[in-house]
Amino acid sequence: MPVSIADVAQCAGVSRTTVSHVLSGNRPVSEEVANRVRAAMTELGYVPSRTARNLARGSTQTVGLLVPDISNSFFADLAKGVEAACIENGFNVLLCNTGWNREREVFYLETLRSRAVDGVLYASGATPAASTLAELLAGLPVVAVDEALPGVTVSSVSSDNRQGGRAAAEHLLSLGHRSAAVIGVNSELASSAERLDGFQRQWKKATGQRAMVIEGSFDEDSGARAARDLIPAIRAREVTAIFATNDLNALGAMTILREAGIGVPHECSVIGFDDFIAARHAFPPLTTIRQDATLMGTKAAQALLTQLSGEGARRHTVLPVELVVRSSTAESPSAQ
Ligand code: RIB
Repeated sequence: MPVSIADVAQCAGVSRTTVSHVLSGNRPVSEEVANRVRAAMTELGYVPSRTARNLARGSTQTVGLLVPDISNSFFADLAKGVEAACIENGFNVLLCNTGWNREREVFYLETLRSRAVDGVLYASGATPAASTLAELLAGLPVVAVDEALPGVTVSSVSSDNRQGGRAAAEHLLSLGHRSAAVIGVNSELASSAERLDGFQRQWKKATGQRAMVIEGSFDEDSGARAARDLIPAIRAREVTAIFATNDLNALGAMTILREAGIGVPHECSVIGFDDFIAARHAFPPLTTIRQDATLMGTKAAQALLTQLSGEGARRHTVLPVELVVRSSTAESPSAQ
């Protein structure tokens, strides 16, 4: 039978709590008592298990990471950043894939609580109602990553989505486009709404009109559906450019346009958002707005770990984005 804390306590003639204090170093114990406890441990061959050590510390050295879609390499890159920062600081990561699904977010938040994680890195894809969220997160150190969490006051790390939308519009306008569609818009998500807002403000300023908007989600199917709907307008040159709110939407749209015999970029330009790994390998290589997912993960983990160590005030970190010009955008056919 493995030696327990109770055995050590009996052998040293102290309480189990005192043994725990010696193990954790959290409470002062006299040098004489601490030496007695250590001697008992050596005599009995006691090896503290990770669980026992963590319980004594009041910590599981574990953080939960919620992401909406592990198959999207944007979130895989984000998770890499989180993992590297956590491992470096002796923390483990429990990865939860929520599938853009509200019930699953609730389920995983409850699960993480019941597993006594020290904190949560929360990239939401279908945020629960503010009151539910406040209840689920009460007393739990949380950092919102990539997406805002309405109604709760937590630190956050995200990209400058509005600036990204603006940069996408400026790029298309500089190529002479005057009629565009924004696809994959989900106005319930701040990231999506901000990208749209940044784009529309710039577009309206330059053309006096708003671009067409097609509602959707951050996946390929959404891009494919939008492109199918846009084919007649593209053929009629009523739409010469598409701003996809993420790269998966852009790739879905380009596939449908190719199948319909519509040339990208000469009949219709396409610009995405993310610059995930597949963007540069797409056909044609995708012009996009780059956000650094790995850095976002690293910064978010560092913010949470700082919080866990009892330092640092609440902070909102906004990371810069950057236009990456490849071959999916070109001069508007109407401008030629
Ligand atoms: O590709 C996934 C998208 O969802 C990214 O743009 C990310 O910012 C998230 O909101």
